Amino acid sequence: MSRKKVTVIGAGNVGGTSAQRLIEKQLADVCLIDIVEGLPQGKALDMMQSAATEGFDSHIVGTNDYKDTANSDVIVITAGIARKPGMSRDDLLSTNAAIVGGVVEQVVGGSPNAVIVVVSNPLDVMTQLTWKKSGFPAHRVIGMAGVLDSSRYAMFISEALGCSIKDVRATVLGGHGDTMVPVPQYSTVNGIAITELLPKEKIEEINERTKNGGAEIVKHLKTGSAYYAPSASTVAMVEAILLDSGRILPCCAYLDGQYGVKGLYCGVPVELGAKGVRRIIELDLNAKELADLQNSVNAVKELAGKL
Ligand code: APR
Repeated sequence: MSRKKVTVIGAGNVGGTSAQRLIEKQLADVCLIDIVEGLPQGKALDMMQSAATEGFDSHIVGTNDYKDTANSDVIVITAGIARKPGMSRDDLLSTNAAIVGGVVEQVVGGSPNAVIVVVSNPLDVMTQLTWKKSGFPAHRVIGMAGVLDSSRYAMFISEALGCSIKDVRATVLGGHGDTMVPVPQYSTVNGIAITELLPKEKIEEINERTKNGGAEIVKHLKTGSAYYAPSASTVAMVEAILLDSGRILPCCAYLDGQYGVKGLYCGVPVELGAKGVRRIIELDLNAKELADLQNSVNAVKELAGKL
């Protein structure tokens, strides 16, 4: 049986680390492509030279030529610029729209049946743009944001409770920006909602830190944005797709009436399989959560309108 193939577009911090995680987990062979000559080739060769030590048989090739991406099962888009201190994800809009639009046009012809996972920011709008440019059915174009935001939320919950992170399942909905909506009633420690375990003020504090989770890292790094947790989250989605596992993960998906939203990409719980989105789960939200989600949807809509 031949191995599955994943193309990672953008060989920078997020793309490079995602590629590394994919081959180390032996989930697929990887094609790493970038516009900068030599960068994907050098990183791919370096990673291949870790195979003997790490003990993986997956292959990775680096290239600047889209011909090499043909017949991919999954395409991960990380091309674009990352934010610097003081920038919001939205400030990346016009630059990254041109980059993402361009790469989508070049990659889809060779892999007409692939599932695309978008990582470039501003995430929700870039996912919507990718869907439009690709001509793919909406279920095969998904954005990575909720897994990352939830994974940050889970870390802060486990830290606050001093409990094992393994028991924490956290839910964050909405757009991947300041308006994202952490949902305490669906964030649990082994099934127990955190509303039962933490005082309200502490939950509020954690919610705020989650919303600023990316900015906190940008502030430390100064020259770029996060990539260890983003790549881990990307690979979790790719794994669910490649293995047709049916995992339910918060993803940026096309809403066609769910949560009262039509024709827009936004973060919701999604069942993931080989063809991408199997179904969208509609959670029973309280009035405040629904209002916050609507606010986040409006922010995404407004930004999409600027394109
Ligand atoms: N085609 C292919 N690759 C491109 C193109 C293009 N047209 N334009 C830029 N790139 C590449 C860059 O050469 C660089 O190697 O995209 C890569 C981006 O890498 P980094 O600058 O390290 O940025 P990174 O931290 O990986 O973030 C990438 O993901 O999380 C988001 O907000 C983040 O939008 C940003 C993206």
